[in-house]
Amino acid sequence: MSTKIQSDKPEVILTGDRATGPLHLGHYVGSLKPRVALQSVHEQTILVADMQGLTDNAHNPSKVSSNILNVVADYLAVGIDPSKTTICLQSQIPTLAELTMYYSNLVTIARLERNPTVKSEIQSKGFERSIPAGFLTYPISQAADITAFNATLIPVGDDQLPMLEQTNEIVRKINSLAGETILNECKPLLSRASRLPSTDGKNKMSKTMGNTINLGATEKEIRAAVKSMYTDPNHLRVEDPGKIEGNVVFTYLDAFHPDEAYVSDLKEHYQRGGLGDGTTKKILEECLQELLAPIRKQRAEYLNDKEQLLDILRKGSEVSRAKAERVLHEVKGVFGLNLF
Ligand code: TRP
Repeated sequence: MSTKIQSDKPEVILTGDRATGPLHLGHYVGSLKPRVALQSVHEQTILVADMQGLTDNAHNPSKVSSNILNVVADYLAVGIDPSKTTICLQSQIPTLAELTMYYSNLVTIARLERNPTVKSEIQSKGFERSIPAGFLTYPISQAADITAFNATLIPVGDDQLPMLEQTNEIVRKINSLAGETILNECKPLLSRASRLPSTDGKNKMSKTMGNTINLGATEKEIRAAVKSMYTDPNHLRVEDPGKIEGNVVFTYLDAFHPDEAYVSDLKEHYQRGGLGDGTTKKILEECLQELLAPIRKQRAEYLNDKEQLLDILRKGSEVSRAKAERVLHEVKGVFGLNLF
């Protein structure tokens, strides 16, 4: 019996998001828009990674539980269609935890500590030696997520490449133990959009630092966020020439303004001098208000019908559990544990 999931679509895609906050414009350009396009071509599953969210939030679990439906509403509001994309909830697929246990025996602590993404997260979170075991091992759990669907293509940001590398190491070990290919190796699909900076121009977007624009942001929040955006600190008078590089207003105009030629004219004008930050911010604000108004409205409507959101998750998780169980059966077989 082969676990290859039968599909007439070219690739099996799995992506996921930690449910630790509502999604923002960075998610929109980097991952949500591409997923909307991919869902018509491929077999796509999106995993709401609530268990992974707990790996560094177990002492503040409501940060995860209260955001699960927000994230689902965000998906639907931007056009992810549950009739084309399976949306599932990690904690409702216990098979993933079982797979994680088997894979854990194939991965050393040293290897986990070498994972560059985990390493920098441990540093930035200030864990030192008090790293939750679940946090250190989340790359194994992510390998379980990916292989449970026998996914072949994973749309990710470059910070996730080490996770895919670890996944493929596990895949090769399982296949080698099995003496045949039972799991697929996966490839990353890197987003063409470069990473969107936070509104303050620092690299990391962080909800607590208030430097993001959420998909559900109110008109007022959008206005305030654009007003406070980092521009060119040396551009003091309107007539001064300004710098585009590192100017967040222009980065966002590049990412969101529909008229490229117009943005290019604005850039020239700004660099020449005579174009004030007030004006560029006004143009950006209008464009973001227009983009987000329908998304905010849809999102609110979805959140008004929690039963519908739960139903989507329930159905998606059921379908996903069935797929994952087929893979688990194969993996248990590798260890000789399908006794009855
Ligand atoms: N680690 C991913 C993130 O932080 C979320 C995630 C969990 C994921 N499981 C996944 C991504 C499986 C891709 C595939 O964004």
